[in-house]
Amino acid sequence: MTAKARRKAASHKGRQATAADLKQVRQYLDQGKGRRDRLIEYLHRIQDDLGHLPAQLLVGLAEELRLSQTEVFEIASFYHHFDVTREGESAPPALTVRVCESVSCSLANAEALIEQLQQTLGDGVRVQRVPCVGRCERAPVAVVGTRPVEIAGLEDVAAAVESGSHADVIPTGVLDFAAYCSGGGYSRLRELSEQDDQAARERIIGSLEHAGLRGLGGAGFPAGRKWRIVRDYEGPRLMAVNIDEGEPGTLKDRYYLERDPHRFFEGMLIAARVVGIDAIYIYLRDEYAGVRALLERELDALEGDPPCPLPPIELRRGAGAYICGEESAMIESIEGKRGMPRLRPPYIAERGLFGRPTLEHNMETLYWVPEILEKGADWFVSHGRNGRQGLRSYSVSGRVKRPGVHLAPAGISVRELIDEYCGGMSDGHAFKAYFPGGASGGILPASLGDLPLDFETLNDYGCFIGSAAIIVLSDQDSVREQALNAMRFFAHESCGQCTPCRVGTVKAAELMARPDWDQPLLEELCQVMEDASICGLGQAAPNPLRCAMKYFPEEF
Ligand SMILES: Cc1cc2nc3c(=O)[nH]c(=O)nc-3n(C[C@H](O)[C@H](O)[C@H](O)COP(=O)(O)O)c2cc1C
Ligand code: SF4
Repeated sequence: MTAKARRKAASHKGRQATAADLKQVRQYLDQGKGRRDRLIEYLHRIQDDLGHLPAQLLVGLAEELRLSQTEVFEIASFYHHFDVTREGESAPPALTVRVCESVSCSLANAEALIEQLQQTLGDGVRVQRVPCVGRCERAPVAVVGTRPVEIAGLEDVAAAVESGSHADVIPTGVLDFAAYCSGGGYSRLRELSEQDDQAARERIIGSLEHAGLRGLGGAGFPAGRKWRIVRDYEGPRLMAVNIDEGEPGTLKDRYYLERDPHRFFEGMLIAARVVGIDAIYIYLRDEYAGVRALLERELDALEGDPPCPLPPIELRRGAGAYICGEESAMIESIEGKRGMPRLRPPYIAERGLFGRPTLEHNMETLYWVPEILEKGADWFVSHGRNGRQGLRSYSVSGRVKRPGVHLAPAGISVRELIDEYCGGMSDGHAFKAYFPGGASGGILPASLGDLPLDFETLNDYGCFIGSAAIIVLSDQDSVREQALNAMRFFAHESCGQCTPCRVGTVKAAELMARPDWDQPLLEELCQVMEDASICGLGQAAPNPLRCAMKYFPEEF
């Protein structure tokens, strides 16, 4: 750059924050001070307060956090729940009604509901199509403000809009701190803290290994082995708990949190002690506003009367981005950045959150720790079917009489699950197909309905169980339509970082929307996405498409 160009660049300061903007921004920081990693929290505070993110406040936020304006704008516009408004642009309507259009809700006629709502609700209300909101057992679901309306019809949603109460509430029937403690809760954690030696920690890891407890967020990595790996890296070590629960069809984390949050906290704190964790970050999807209020309340109770010294625990709020469930994207998000998966190695166990060794777990994995320690690993492995061991929480939705979370033996088949746990198929529906692991896990025909539902078993069929989100389709459903639904979901949720996924998912969805599928071209696209995508989203995106072509030729 010439000296003249340098002088010109220095004199061109771009948009500046006014003193009034800075004063306003400081109200949203922590006691007037900002921490870079808490940027997303501050964005939430502004959005909650004003209903949108005015550009001049983002400029002020950039100045307070010593970030470039571009970075703050990029981050704010990455997350679906933030509305950035530029100068001269009007703010969005005061109320947003989000209607889920993912697989289970689409089976329950969400499309018709969306159209009716768009025609009926007035100008002051914005109707948005959104991906899965985690209430698939009571589809279709609309969320008015943050208040969920389940099995939603036009009248229910209109009544919720009219009522003026648009905030989600804490669920009832929760086993709270006092009740959990009086039932003997936290005694395993207390015992460990009183006798915290190498042998005690080794016994606990040994129990988890004997129980065969595997990560329940999707990848199924053995929990005990992960604890050993992270523990062996030099501290300080951190922990990140994944409650992003964005995989369409998955609702188990919410189910357990709404009932027994302290069982999860106890498991989390046992893990923290055994592995030697210095601070814990809990990442909760933004869609679970009632659960967030519950966790805040119960964390306060726990920290007010702790069974033993606790590490610092921070509850963080997602902002509507499925990709933030991917562990390294989640870490980026906790650091206050866009949720873009990292290239590996290094794995997060070695260099994760803030560059430290990080133990990341799905919330449900930790939930099982106290019970396995209390009842013994033999109790856990005594369950199982079709040659598998252990228990699994299946989130079942779609065409069954009793959808919901069913705790059943690992290795049960979908046919057994439907008959024994779900009260059979819905009246007038015959079993045709199923997603064994949410949108990413592929689609199998009823003729493969006797396969054991477990890790690895389904790989040979181009599928995986993931978070055990089983969506049941019937003779009245079109597999090709649902495969398209899944592909549109991936296209919407791709973080955009790598071309095979960003372009591949959009291109595939376009081709799949045509009456005739160009199957050789689609297969080529699948191959590129699978081979060249950075993370599991792009690698798994071809699964439902390939299954549709392979198992349901009659639909083409
Ligand atoms: C695209 C994508 C989305 C994911 N979403 C979630 C999620 O919502 N919740 C979760 O626990 N794990 C999710 N995972 C898996 C995590 O990356 C990670 O394996 C898991 O949190 C580790 O915890 P676990 O060993 O206890 O399962 C996702 C993975 C990918 C590739
Ligand atoms: S595969 Fe998709 S979601 Fe994953 S890093 Fe690439 S663009 Fe992002």
